[in-house]
Amino acid sequence: MSDPSPRPMIPLSVPVLAGKEWEYIKDCLDTGWVSSAGSYVTNFEEKIARYVGTSHAVATVNGTAALHVSLIGCGVSPGDEVIVPTLTFIAPINAVRYCGAEPVFMDSNKDNLCLDIRKTKEFLERECEKRSDGCTYNKRTGRRIKAIIPVHIFGHPAAMDEMLDVCEEYNIDIIEDATESLGSEYKGKKTGSFGRAGCFSFNGNKIITTGGGGMVVTSDENLAKQIRHLTTQAKRDPFEYDHDAIGYNYRLPNILAAMGMAQMEQLDNFIIAKRRNAGIYKELLKDLEQTEFMWGKSSTKSNFWFYALKVCKEDKNPLMKFLLKKNIQVRPIWKLNHTLQMYRECQSYKIKEAPEAYERYINLPCSANLEQEDIKYVVSVVGEYFKWKKS
Ligand SMILES: Cc1ncc(COP(=O)(O)O)c(C=O)c1O
Repeated sequence: MSDPSPRPMIPLSVPVLAGKEWEYIKDCLDTGWVSSAGSYVTNFEEKIARYVGTSHAVATVNGTAALHVSLIGCGVSPGDEVIVPTLTFIAPINAVRYCGAEPVFMDSNKDNLCLDIRKTKEFLERECEKRSDGCTYNKRTGRRIKAIIPVHIFGHPAAMDEMLDVCEEYNIDIIEDATESLGSEYKGKKTGSFGRAGCFSFNGNKIITTGGGGMVVTSDENLAKQIRHLTTQAKRDPFEYDHDAIGYNYRLPNILAAMGMAQMEQLDNFIIAKRRNAGIYKELLKDLEQTEFMWGKSSTKSNFWFYALKVCKEDKNPLMKFLLKKNIQVRPIWKLNHTLQMYRECQSYKIKEAPEAYERYINLPCSANLEQEDIKYVVSVVGEYFKWKKS
């Protein structure tokens, strides 16, 4: 029988545009500063750099572009290898390929789903060698391991101190994919500020949004200069069309940065709401022994961008179907990148936990404006599913 009074849909993740978005965008429209120049872009860059704790920030059209120019800026070249987690959104993997480099896929941790740094260390010790040029090479392929991209999955910080130690030892650059973790902290420092470069995304589902947008942060002045140059078509002269490299049209428009400024004014409140709602989910789900709400590591401070619920393999798809039928938007987590047809031939190292995570986790509604009543409803429907299954 169909539900007599279906509730309005509870979306997975929608932006909250409750600040000065209209005012700042109107200012751009009124003054005509809508495109690649304008004060909102520079103010947005300065605001993000100050917030994250880096000396520089360069705005980009999206997070993928931020990753791409960061890799180029760090010298990733055709024929190099870059260590990446297999469990992540595909963008960082594609960015490696845009540079003509090869991804090497790494497993993830059980507790926070981030790249497994212990296995990475083991891979470097056993499968690679440091040569007299100071660089590390993969013994199997002979290629240089130039960089690593840790992704702070769903906002939960990866183990950055271990990562820094390993990468220093093997002379590997860290490019943090902090696209999901603006505001998250590891040992009191913001994610994005640990690597040579850190990348953010302001896509519609991120903790703050500009519709589409991104940012590279770094404390390396030369790198910041180079990245800014690359994002603006590598134009050398303000007047003459004199370009000294193959650049990109990756600069964030001023009108989008205006939205970013308004969103930044609300970020602290978004994080408070996301963390509070995570606590409510965890508390309400604790009596449902068939489920486990992902909490990450208590030694870190996650922005809880996305919520993940672990269930048995057999329950994952039927539970998602059940929730969707009840107008609750949920989704599976990402298919493992090393299994996708474009990347199947690439090297992967002892991948064991990531498949288990893919088979068991789903994402639950997580918008910053989610009401306690909505969370109660979601949890009650999860409970209903297990009762229905038993009956
Ligand atoms: C882990 C990760 N990396 C990169 C990106 C790419 O960001 P964008 O969509 O802004 O290009 C996203 C999300 O969209 C992401 O989740």
